[in-house]
Amino acid sequence: MIVAMDRNRGIGVGNQLPWRLSDDMKRFRELTMGHHLLVGRKTFESIGRPLPGRQMIVLTRDPSFRVEGCATAGSILEGMAIARSRDETELFIGGGGEIYRQALNIADRIYLTLVETEVEADAFFPEMSNEAWVEIDSIHHPADENHQYSFTFKTLVRKT
Ligand SMILES: NC(=O)c1ccc[n+]([C@@H]2O[C@H](COP(=O)([O-])OP(=O)(O)OC[C@H]3O[C@@H](n4cnc5c(N)ncnc54)[C@H](OP(=O)(O)O)[C@@H]3O)[C@@H](O)[C@H]2O)c1
Repeated sequence: MIVAMDRNRGIGVGNQLPWRLSDDMKRFRELTMGHHLLVGRKTFESIGRPLPGRQMIVLTRDPSFRVEGCATAGSILEGMAIARSRDETELFIGGGGEIYRQALNIADRIYLTLVETEVEADAFFPEMSNEAWVEIDSIHHPADENHQYSFTFKTLVRKT
């Protein structure tokens, strides 16, 4: 999974990201480039287009939903099967809140950006058990003229 959340686990408001952090977007781009990216229908509509260089799979319960340039899936398992059938080595789950909640027990790695603020939010990343995850990487990024908030890139992997 790949996510940016604030101190209260907030990830979105009004079907938008609550911040614009260019170096976080850059990290998202670098990590997901060339891979399959599974997103909920609301997150897809918020992005508004297929992301170049990524094979997007949009999760929806609406069987008539179609987007040119993207696959659609009716369940997370179906989305995973699509990626596997195309020899994907690392499927990224890109949110939003509903999808993260359902995928938390399936994911084996979380690329987490912890944004050091508290914003108004109506979508959230689920609580994680400290027992289940170990942090293998942490890089701090200060606030600056291009970044309203400071943040920390963390990589968490599921304990075996
Ligand atoms: N900060 C971050 O890293 C980050 C990342 C991504 C998104 N976001 C934010 O998160 C918010 C959106 O999150 P959200 O929770 O409202 O919506 P969402 O998770 O993006 O999408 C929810 C939709 O996904 C479909 N869906 C959910 N579970 C499904 C299942 N088991 N099988 C088939 N389809 C399923 C349904 O689509 P249908 O209604 O079409 O059936 C549902 O309405 C936005 O504010 C966005 O900006 C933040």
